[in-house]
Amino acid sequence: MKFYNREKELNYLKNYVQLEPNSILFVYGPKSSGKSTVMLRVIEELSKKDDLVFFYYDLREYATPTKEEFLEIFFEKGDKKYLLNRFEINLKIFKFGIEEKFDFDNIKLNDVFSKMKESINAVIKDGKKPILIIDELQKLKSIYFNGEGKGDKSLLNELFNLFVHLTKVRHLCHVICLTSDTLFIEEIYRNSTLENTSEYYLIDWLRKESIRNILKEEGFSEEEVDYCLKYLSLPYEISQLINNKKLGLSVEQTIKQWINIERDKILYLISTQKEFEMGKLIDALKLFENKIKVDIKEIIRDNLMDEVKFLIKNEILFYDVMNGIIKPTSVKKWYAIKEVIE
Ligand SMILES: Nc1ncnc2c1ncn2[C@@H]1O[C@H](COP(=O)(O)OP(=O)(O)OP(=O)(O)O)[C@@H](O)[C@H]1O
Ligand SMILES: [Mg+2]
Repeated sequence: MKFYNREKELNYLKNYVQLEPNSILFVYGPKSSGKSTVMLRVIEELSKKDDLVFFYYDLREYATPTKEEFLEIFFEKGDKKYLLNRFEINLKIFKFGIEEKFDFDNIKLNDVFSKMKESINAVIKDGKKPILIIDELQKLKSIYFNGEGKGDKSLLNELFNLFVHLTKVRHLCHVICLTSDTLFIEEIYRNSTLENTSEYYLIDWLRKESIRNILKEEGFSEEEVDYCLKYLSLPYEISQLINNKKLGLSVEQTIKQWINIERDKILYLISTQKEFEMGKLIDALKLFENKIKVDIKEIIRDNLMDEVKFLIKNEILFYDVMNGIIKPTSVKKWYAIKEVIE
């Protein structure tokens, strides 16, 4: 699989993980912008360096993990404090180690955290730097541990406390969380207990200049490049265009098809949902009639926040919390929206 230009993002993340840990980093961005791919590339390029130990967990594979699954994802039984993930053949990534006899059914949250800290300390003792990366962290939202008489404890809330301890307080370990769920990012951003403990990094659409260069390198004609630049924003769209060209479809045909599919998906979504008046959802989409980015203030003023949140949840729109703007998840989605409101 080819990897297209993400120099700026790669450099940022490669440098970031080698600085002293000081806060939790949240990597966010529109659906399919390439967050996971860039992060994996960082691991691949840096794992040649023997002093970095990546604990990487991808929760995407699990619909909503149970407590037991969470433990199995994060821990590996064995006699070491940290062990190579044996299911990853191409990447050098690690899991927290735990003794064979450990009973996952009766484990307390404090024990889980002690084991994580032991693994991290073992890495440091070996003269190496631990880096903890969790992809799609919001999937842990629904896991609770028994709080022993004090009510159930939310795993995610408690994990955040641990992450703050590991980063801001003790500077022991980097913690990087990736998510495509921007409403989750918003929740975190507004969570006062996480104030001054976290940083945010946006992996956005590909820049026009990068797209132009990639397309030229891939042998697209001047005319094709100019046409594509109007519609492309995501890396996988480029691979799809190239494949379709090989299959005999012109770029115009492919792009027209994309927009038709997206338009029909939006129409289906807004006509089958029962939560909102269809007219109000259309009003929310109409904000994008003449511009691709809308200031959040405009949405609040027009009293369309609930409708917009529904469209964000359904990955039609993307909320860039840090910059206070809403935009379609891709440029092709923007053209589809325009067809819907016509
Ligand atoms: N720089 C790149 N070069 C080539 N292909 C890429 C690049 N970045 C992403 N892709 C491709 O685009 C698709 C989506 O990428 P990826 O899963 O990394 O995005 P994501 O932002 O993590 O998505 P999600 O929001 O769903 O988590 C994948 O098929 C991936 O192979
Ligand atoms: Mg991802």
